[in-house]
Amino acid sequence: MKQLALFGGPRTVPEGMVKAWPPLTQADRNAVMKVFDSNVLHGTSAPNALKLQQEWADFLGVKYCLVTNSGTSALHMAIACLGIGPGDEVIVPAFTYWSSAAAVLHHNAIPVFVDIDPKSFCIDPKRIEAKITPRTKGIMPVHIHGMPCDMGPIMRIAKKHSLLVVGDACQAHGAKYKGKPVGTIEHTTGFSTNRSKNLSSGEGGLFVTDVERYYEAAKLLREFGETVLKDQDREYNAYGMGWMYRSHEFVNAFCRAQLKRLPRYNAKRREFAEYLTEQLADIPGVKGPYTPPGREPVYFTYVVEFRPKEVGVDMTPEQFKLAAQKALSAEGVPMGQWQRMPVPAQSVFQSMEGYGKGCPWTCRHYGRRIEYRGEDYPETVKFIAAHSYLRGVYPPNTMALMKRYVAGFRKVMERAKDLEGVRD
Ligand SMILES: Cc1ncc(COP(=O)(O)O)c(C=O)c1O
Repeated sequence: MKQLALFGGPRTVPEGMVKAWPPLTQADRNAVMKVFDSNVLHGTSAPNALKLQQEWADFLGVKYCLVTNSGTSALHMAIACLGIGPGDEVIVPAFTYWSSAAAVLHHNAIPVFVDIDPKSFCIDPKRIEAKITPRTKGIMPVHIHGMPCDMGPIMRIAKKHSLLVVGDACQAHGAKYKGKPVGTIEHTTGFSTNRSKNLSSGEGGLFVTDVERYYEAAKLLREFGETVLKDQDREYNAYGMGWMYRSHEFVNAFCRAQLKRLPRYNAKRREFAEYLTEQLADIPGVKGPYTPPGREPVYFTYVVEFRPKEVGVDMTPEQFKLAAQKALSAEGVPMGQWQRMPVPAQSVFQSMEGYGKGCPWTCRHYGRRIEYRGEDYPETVKFIAAHSYLRGVYPPNTMALMKRYVAGFRKVMERAKDLEGVRD
């Protein structure tokens, strides 16, 4: 058996074989250059902004869409347009990118965290009701890793307690729950189109809803609190608080070009992920992600669990993962860590200095003391310890690369005992 590349053996995946996301084509270049030549570079009524909104609404099957300059701004609009604000609580999963919770704080509301389901890694609906208080106004399911949350129970809980549901679908463009795309089930939803996302425009976001009054409120928030209407004189009157969340026409045009290929790209991600999961099931020491029935994930990221006991290695899952990650990366199988701690364990929730002077937690409209402790979310802690992310599971990469990845996993796991000496 060949020695591990970490100890001087040959690499499994040749240098330069893993290609970056997103695939860029002449169609993308043409789309951006057309904007350049048109000299219409911005504006909420600019042609690419309007067309992208229509195309994304049609893709999902929702009535209204607004393009924004980030996923975070789309999420902030999705919270704020519902009337959620000072003194209100919103339930957010403890495992997510912290922007989900930041969007709640941005409107002076308070994130209340709930642990994840250990199989799907999405918010666990069974734990939500225990966190509902008279202040709770909303639930934010985050379709993490491109996996749709268990929306049936979440919407039932929301209805029972008269709560609003704000989807964070920043990682889940085209993912479906029981045949319905995420973003069509929630009251409002935000998507990110930043560089890494399944639908990528470099930076950007998309807000969607089926409810006209939420759409109208979000429109005001997106552009300074003003009403800016196509082909009409601008009033220059702010009707209320607003932000500058407009997007650039280069980005809008680029996003439209990428959107045309989203179904094809998502299908490739699924093909690669399903192949990997099937292959990893036969390799002791590692395991691919589980898909609950009725859910169609889009594999924004491919998650691998490390299981030292299966290969008789005397290390904790975290120690084993870190050592295996090094060995796999040396083989050319690029593995990495994403979140390092539950969101409530992050410094901002420890210091509770959002806007300074303790706001929004000390806001007189809130009047409740809340404490954030990472250890209160044991499934999140366990998930973070035992899992890492395999990069490159998307086009323009090919099945040939996925086969090399599998060979790399097999080689490292067959020599897992050698990893016992690899510690930080
Ligand atoms: C789950 C989640 N929510 C929110 C965001 C924020 O999106 P953006 O970076 O476009 O603001 C991201 C992406 O970074 C994300 O992964």
